[in-house]
Amino acid sequence: MAAAKPQTEGKRKQEKTERKPMSNADAVPNDRVLIFDTTLRDGEQSPGISLNVQEKLEIAHQLARLGVDVIEAGFPIASPGDFEAVQAIAREVEGPVIAGLARAQAADIDRAHKALRDAARPRIHTFISTSDIHIQHQMRNTREDVKVGARAAVAHARSLVEDVEFSPMDATRADVEFTAEVLQIALDEGATTINIPDTVGYAMPHEYAAFIARLFELLPDLASKAIVSTHCHDDLGLAVANTLAGVQAGARQVECAINGLGERAGNAALEEVVMLLETRKADLGLHTEINTREISRTSRLISRLSGYAVQPNKAIVGRNAFAHESGIHQDGVLKERTTFEIMDARSVGLEGTDLVLGKHSGRHALKSALQDLGIEVDGALLDQAFKRFKEIADRKKQVTAMDLEALVADELREEVRGYGLEWFEVEVSSSRPPHARVRVTTPAGDVSEGDFTGDGPVDAIFRAINAAVDREPRLREFRIDSVTSGQDALGEASVVLEDGDVSAAGQGVSTDIIEASALAYVRALSNLEVRGRRAGATAEKLQEDVPLIAAP
Ligand code: KIV
Ligand code: ZN
Repeated sequence: MAAAKPQTEGKRKQEKTERKPMSNADAVPNDRVLIFDTTLRDGEQSPGISLNVQEKLEIAHQLARLGVDVIEAGFPIASPGDFEAVQAIAREVEGPVIAGLARAQAADIDRAHKALRDAARPRIHTFISTSDIHIQHQMRNTREDVKVGARAAVAHARSLVEDVEFSPMDATRADVEFTAEVLQIALDEGATTINIPDTVGYAMPHEYAAFIARLFELLPDLASKAIVSTHCHDDLGLAVANTLAGVQAGARQVECAINGLGERAGNAALEEVVMLLETRKADLGLHTEINTREISRTSRLISRLSGYAVQPNKAIVGRNAFAHESGIHQDGVLKERTTFEIMDARSVGLEGTDLVLGKHSGRHALKSALQDLGIEVDGALLDQAFKRFKEIADRKKQVTAMDLEALVADELREEVRGYGLEWFEVEVSSSRPPHARVRVTTPAGDVSEGDFTGDGPVDAIFRAINAAVDREPRLREFRIDSVTSGQDALGEASVVLEDGDVSAAGQGVSTDIIEASALAYVRALSNLEVRGRRAGATAEKLQEDVPLIAAP
């Protein structure tokens, strides 16, 4: 086993130099890696994800329990929903630094600042591209303009908050000398974190490490003035490898997302980076402050709310990540776990999921079972959760911790419902095609009925809903999973619908898979409605040529 590489020149310098006590990034020991979670920002940019404010808050609370250092809560200027979510997280979530993204424009920065105003530790994350390809073709201006824009943006952000992160977008395809010039400006204006995005997932680990190492050489005050950060996309499947290379080159913040969510192929998966640093701690000499036992639950919550399933063989959080199929492996593990396991499943929280409640369990038992799972519900939400629990407990012998998680996540979705499923009937027989009838409530508060004879029961009910609401979106994805094993398991359905340029997801949980599917479909329709209303204005705002901030 190879020994860890020595720390880079840049980091050795960092050890010797005292950083000014300006932000949370200061006074971080050199063997600590800060975890910056961007599930709610870059992750939320994955196609089809449409989280409401309540869901984003729930995720942010769970990220705080997981122990992330920074939560990038959103891009406040992107939409009123983004603004509201960042503001709610800034107000309610304690512990991590709360960051908001802003292009290098005064309006973006002001909007981010407004959303973050109530955070105990706010961070403005501003960015501008340094690659010629972006400068010429996307921004249609010059390197000089980029320098002017970066200076003005960081100066403006620093006039509002102490903690400012600066990212030269598409850095890995940019000229390193020019990027260093821009970063020097950002440092001079007071940036406290310098993030190096591999925006299009193009770099290879040795190149990414060399880029960061070169920046430490070109910028003598980089190590003393700021924390260097990685931000790696997974287009070539190298996001985690590049992140590790960046850390070995001296970066001490990593940007990542749960389940690897993010633009296109996604970002470095938080759970993989964290367990890599944890499992190879002795060799790397680095650690994070993540409570790894919260990893599985966080992954399940995000998969459930985003509608993005985790592939069974996904490292750390896939259903099979700790399962042994081969007899030789099973035999070895039974004799001594470490023969075929490099991590203990308990270290990522794969335990305690067998907690059981039955149909005689009361409200108090439910509340305390939820508390044991780290889920705080009270008032109306507890009443709703209890009602659903009773319905499920009547149909199912035992309600497990996994069922409770699914159920509470399902109740959280109530908030955005524009359409509601009042009742449905599906006639299924082997002698004729299935026929479905539904009644739905509309966003205007009316009721409407529809019916349809389809190819299968799910097809029939989806089209009956279309008939009731007079819409014909394209069904892009439909999935049904069981929450636990066993014949009476809860079914969890996930639907992604597309209408023109807008796509939206919905999920539903029930012991009856037709009901779960119908609930998921109706919720996806509601999300489509909300997204459709917002999309026009947002797209116009974000796709317009990015005017640079005026020089002061
Ligand atoms: O990938 C990227 O370049 C980004 C920046 C906004 C940091 O997400
Ligand atoms: Zn990104």
